[in-house]
Amino acid sequence: MALINEHYLKLKAGYLFPEISRRVSAFAKSHPGMKIIKMGIGDVTQPLAPSVIKAFHEGVEEMGNAETFKGYGPEQGYDFLRKAIAENDYQNNKINVSAEDIFISDGSKCDTGNIQEIFGYDNKIAICDPVYPVYADTTVMAGKTGVCSADGYFENIIYMPCTEENNFIPQLPKEKADLIFLCFPNNPTGAVATKEVLKKWVDYALENKSIILFDGAYEAFITEKDIPHSIYEIEGAEKVAVEFRSLSKTAGFTGTRCAFTVIPEKLKACDSKGEMHSVKPLWMRRQTTKFNGTSYPVQKAAAAIYSENGKKEIKTTIRYYIENAGIIHKSFSAMGFKVYGGINSPYIWLKTKNNMKSWDFFDKLLNEANIVGTPGAGFGPSGEGYFRFSAFADRESVLEAMERVKKLFS
Ligand code: MLT
Repeated sequence: MALINEHYLKLKAGYLFPEISRRVSAFAKSHPGMKIIKMGIGDVTQPLAPSVIKAFHEGVEEMGNAETFKGYGPEQGYDFLRKAIAENDYQNNKINVSAEDIFISDGSKCDTGNIQEIFGYDNKIAICDPVYPVYADTTVMAGKTGVCSADGYFENIIYMPCTEENNFIPQLPKEKADLIFLCFPNNPTGAVATKEVLKKWVDYALENKSIILFDGAYEAFITEKDIPHSIYEIEGAEKVAVEFRSLSKTAGFTGTRCAFTVIPEKLKACDSKGEMHSVKPLWMRRQTTKFNGTSYPVQKAAAAIYSENGKKEIKTTIRYYIENAGIIHKSFSAMGFKVYGGINSPYIWLKTKNNMKSWDFFDKLLNEANIVGTPGAGFGPSGEGYFRFSAFADRESVLEAMERVKKLFS
């Protein structure tokens, strides 16, 4: 008899975003003709940059020609892309990351979930609350937690509340954490970590022989000076941190798929006898066994974001989304909501009024203004009473949505 992985049964609801889509589809079906404005999932709407499209076409042409055709690519990704990333995202900013430490993939969602596989079952995992739900859900799927309590917390995860009281910055855990997921700029709160904050975490990890899994998917949205763009800006981080970066939001690759993960040569973890092992060969072994890489035309298109024109083009689009975020922030603030994020992040995080539950706020917005956002509770129990708007809709939709909410809440 075939047995299921029962850990999946611990996950009560479906994955957050498909669950939202399901509710929105049901609403659309029962209200035909309604114009629903989607500001829920962080999915981009603006087209790929011209330089990216040009390179993408060239890549496809090369695949159609016997002289330039390519089969399986190098497992870690093509050298031209890894070098471009190392130089532009790191070395030009005086951050010591080598192309050798970069692994190209088809998404940070997959990488942040899959990375757990190379670490032991007995690790204590610390996760911010609220945060991108993939970290907790994949920890559950991997069988590393107990059951979920009535208040939404899984046994055996160290939850680090990120609330108004601590400016949405997690405190160092009191108990020892072995693997620590951090995400800055944060999804969903939009909070950023200063150098001092990241240094505390790196020092903690060095002291406790922990590893930080640092998700920097929204790094390109940092607008304020002196906010670190990479955990490797902190001394010693190369010994204790993995960094995930994605082109999804940076360059509009949500449908095109390209990301990368940095695993420095110096990063080590223990076996059960206390002997230290490099982490990078384990990830290499995992990827070469289970993953055949991102397609050549996509990698070629990805490299174009580092060309002179490509850099300018993607900056223009990011500015457009950040301006959207500013419009949303300003509108809700003017209606008396407490609003966070949206400055170094495409996400606006607001507190509902009168302690309204976040799924009730979701229903109200959908039913009365035909707008979709994301309930804070979907990101963790401490997200209850909050709501997230994504700033990736087109400008016209954002403006229309703000007109509708003004009518609803004023
Ligand atoms: C989000 O809306 O939180 C993100 O788009 C989800 C993701 O990047 O997978």
